[in-house]
Amino acid sequence: MIKTVEWTDAGVRFIDQTKLPTEETYVTCKSYEEVADAIRTMIVRGAPAIGVTAAMGVALGVRDSQARDLATLKRDLDHICDVLAATRPTAVNLFWGIRRMKAKFEEVSSKPIAEIKKVLVTEGQQMLAADIAANQSMGKHGAVLLPARGGILTHCNAGALATCGYGTALGVIRAAVDSGKKLHVFADETRPFLQGSRLTAWELMKDGIPTTVISDNMAGAMMRQGRIDAVIVGADRIAANGDVANKIGTYTVAVLAKEHRIPFYVAAPFSTVDLHTPDGSQIPIEQRSAKEVTHMAGKQIAPEGVGVENPAFDVTPHRYVAAIITERGVVRAPYSESLRALAPAETSA
Ligand code: MRU
Repeated sequence: MIKTVEWTDAGVRFIDQTKLPTEETYVTCKSYEEVADAIRTMIVRGAPAIGVTAAMGVALGVRDSQARDLATLKRDLDHICDVLAATRPTAVNLFWGIRRMKAKFEEVSSKPIAEIKKVLVTEGQQMLAADIAANQSMGKHGAVLLPARGGILTHCNAGALATCGYGTALGVIRAAVDSGKKLHVFADETRPFLQGSRLTAWELMKDGIPTTVISDNMAGAMMRQGRIDAVIVGADRIAANGDVANKIGTYTVAVLAKEHRIPFYVAAPFSTVDLHTPDGSQIPIEQRSAKEVTHMAGKQIAPEGVGVENPAFDVTPHRYVAAIITERGVVRAPYSESLRALAPAETSA
């Protein structure tokens, strides 16, 4: 299995996603600041991977703190969490990962400092294992929704590389293929960062799953030709009413799917569901550097000084979503009821 994120004694290790598909190289971040940079520069990306990475960044920072008393360690913890929380605003998993580490710290704060540090390192590793298990469970729940054979369109990368392993949307595809379904994946290249052509194509080819890369503007024509039987994507944040923030361009795909009566599915762990955000209009959308749009592989492809927009995500209103697949089961509209019903009592208040 691809090791997207890994705890090592030397630090948090990542496959460098900015170098794929041409170079398979790994980087080890030796401080929480380096972990924050890895998230910001997208060496590691994808909502669930970002969540676990943030948790491991907290564990690393606390482990290496020089604090000799609890109050100083707590001050260090708060600072580390603030630095990590300022990396990327949209994926709610980032804040979930940080919150979990803070809660664990509180839970064990009566223990000696060395013990607190150990517990946080273990917590990060457990979150990694739980993420893989959640994806496998999502795969089982979602596989039945896909057709026995046909074309499946996906946007961005919601695979092993976007999680700790197996993937959400690609996990569902993997499970469906493992169950004997004959699927062909169409991967939108996903401008401007090209997660589809660089990452989705790379990891599916490694697994021997038939994959065709298309540029984003080909999706409508492919649907019209009857070559797409279902769409499945991941999510960075799902609001309480079922509105879905995901990679820019997802909304366009969802509207096209509705026009062509093709089911549009979203696969995400429950940590991506944000019941405190009532609807998609409240989800913060990250704006990234203009250079991601004006340059490709270091080469300028737009005139110097031209105006550029680069929102990294868009919001798909819930009415376009045929079902949301989570590790706890598949939910359908009305999402404001079905999502809340999946939540444990303390989070649904
Ligand atoms: O900017 P990215 O590459 O972090 O965006 C990733 C996505 O939009 C994914 O679809 C989403 O995080 C779900 S990953 C399982």
